[in-house]
Amino acid sequence: MSVSWALPFEQKIIPKKGASKLVDINTYKEIHSQTVKEYRNFWASVASELEWFKPWEKVLDDSNPPFYKWFVGGEINASYLAVDRHAKSWRKNKVAILWEGEPVDERGNPKEVRKLTYHDLYKEVNRVAYLLKEKYKLKKGDTIAIYLPMIPELPIFMLAAARLGVVFTVVFSGFSADALANRINDAEAKLVVTADGGWRRGKIVELKQIVDKALEKTPTVKDVIVVRRTGHKVNMMEGRDKYFDEVIKDIPQNVYVEPERLKSEDPLYILYTSGTTGKPKGIVHDIGGYETLLHATMRWVFDIRDDDIYWCTADIGWVTGHSYIVFGPLTEGATTVMYEGALDYPQPDRWVSIIERHSVTILYTSPTAIRTFMKFGEEWVKKHDTSTVRLIHSVGEPINPEAQDWMWKLVGREEIPFGSTWWMTETGGIMISHLPGLYLIPMKPGTNGMPIMGVEADVVNDDGKPSNLEDRGYLVIKNPWPGMPLTIYKDPERYVKVYWSKFPGMFYAGDYAVKDRDGYFWILGRADEVIKVSGHRLGTYELESALIEHPAVAEAAVVGVPDPVKGEVPYAFVVLRSGQTPSQQLTQEILKTVREKVGPIAVVDKVFFVSKLPKTRSGKIMRRVVKAVVTKAEVGDITTLEDEASVDEVKKAYEEFK
Ligand code: WTA
Repeated sequence: MSVSWALPFEQKIIPKKGASKLVDINTYKEIHSQTVKEYRNFWASVASELEWFKPWEKVLDDSNPPFYKWFVGGEINASYLAVDRHAKSWRKNKVAILWEGEPVDERGNPKEVRKLTYHDLYKEVNRVAYLLKEKYKLKKGDTIAIYLPMIPELPIFMLAAARLGVVFTVVFSGFSADALANRINDAEAKLVVTADGGWRRGKIVELKQIVDKALEKTPTVKDVIVVRRTGHKVNMMEGRDKYFDEVIKDIPQNVYVEPERLKSEDPLYILYTSGTTGKPKGIVHDIGGYETLLHATMRWVFDIRDDDIYWCTADIGWVTGHSYIVFGPLTEGATTVMYEGALDYPQPDRWVSIIERHSVTILYTSPTAIRTFMKFGEEWVKKHDTSTVRLIHSVGEPINPEAQDWMWKLVGREEIPFGSTWWMTETGGIMISHLPGLYLIPMKPGTNGMPIMGVEADVVNDDGKPSNLEDRGYLVIKNPWPGMPLTIYKDPERYVKVYWSKFPGMFYAGDYAVKDRDGYFWILGRADEVIKVSGHRLGTYELESALIEHPAVAEAAVVGVPDPVKGEVPYAFVVLRSGQTPSQQLTQEILKTVREKVGPIAVVDKVFFVSKLPKTRSGKIMRRVVKAVVTKAEVGDITTLEDEASVDEVKKAYEEFK
């Protein structure tokens, strides 16, 4: 199938700034193919730039694919790399984390700005590591869950855990008690770190209340540490819950906890993410490979230097924040900006005011954010000086050329590099991107560019053969890469099935893509049942499971529908139990159930009532058909449908709404 929509395959932009790294396309391809051919040696040379306690014996153990192990025999520690090295160098007094809170004073400036130098970070990480080790008796291999707002304690706890080899799982604060409980239980976390609350759009997010509810069904959790953020009163359970300031206050300022000498292939963290079917999967990342990929991409993609103020606007609850707010920039000794709240609150120019206030030089943001800024109009942007910005990238979903163009003109002054980096929770770090810090090829608005050095990606058809150029196919990665998952936590079979079985020997990403005649990749969106709402990854399964928890709902199908700002939004088609009648009130109740079960992040945009859903004869709901009706695409082959009238039902419900 040829792509029917117009992509600016031919349009090329050469940024004036950063053009010193410019190479032509064929030169890039030649260098790239060398690194791919020699990928073990190539990645070994990158890895050798990190500091290892003990060098590896084998670059890649591929004896049990797809369970690859990188840098086997090597000993390393992510907390040491991100903190100790810099705190013991001339970077000691350099700002590591530059944070601002949401509440503002009467002049509109943030009431709180915290600047933690590498020395401050070192002290805090050591004290927290001491607390976890000596007071909570946590040791290598234990797991903890972190459910915090965007405050400096979040990276501090991550780094303290990493120091001890304690595996952490960060749960995004937009997830509900149920979602949190499921993750805690799957990870068998012994301790939960949370806050009394967090600020978002002028309101307090009641994190502690959500934790209390989650912990009603989490037998493994013995302790809770509560960071005081908002200072409002929350319930504290005797014996289980302690305030962070109270448990940390007796720990001396200068304690030192030796970083564990961990194996390269030991787990660093588990991050839950939505998949095609079933409950969220716990993606497990290693240390040595992961750090190697982050080190490489921080330099090649972000061109990071010591005088940069680097800002990734993601939330640490998602992988982008793990890799590119915490571990990536800190490993490089950079200054990483963190903010609490929203980019457009209390005013639509919060984001540009952050750029101006802190002289941000590198900006990593999302297409949804840019489209939201566009909606407010350029006057908000022009109120501020953004001339310090020298490089921009976006991530999370395909970027439409209009949004890219708007941002490039307004903040990029039509002269700086601006790319769209493709990767996913599973890949650990960026895989397909322009490389302004290494070899830059002419940029094209909307494209992702080419696979980074050492990574062999391709677009293949249903038979796993390379697709014709400009034909839509599936994105695959053909070689193991550092940063790849170790497995799905406690479910290795699922890891094999989901990623390595569709096309044997290749990693199946689950995205549609095209390759143009120049060899540029254009990632078009998910080929499966994952929905990207504002760049946040949600599974139809989780939403549908939540919908049918409502007592009036018998069956539900959720599909992602294109939205001009959010990229995609979920629509729900619902079959009610007999005796139930559709009503506004029922719709509201059903939406409330979804919010409770999944969290405020799961905003189902519309609910449609139908008497039957398109299903196969074996009873599987055909979301593909539902989606085709709503997006007015070809419905395609429906001969396997149990009842073709169901398609008309969906059509009718949708038409009536319009
Ligand atoms: C999508 C986020 C197009 C893609 C880092 C992928 C993108 C999913 C891009 C992973 C991009 C991410 N262009 N699509 N630049 N970046 N995606 O796990 O569908 O939250 O499979 O990781 O986001 O989402 P995840």
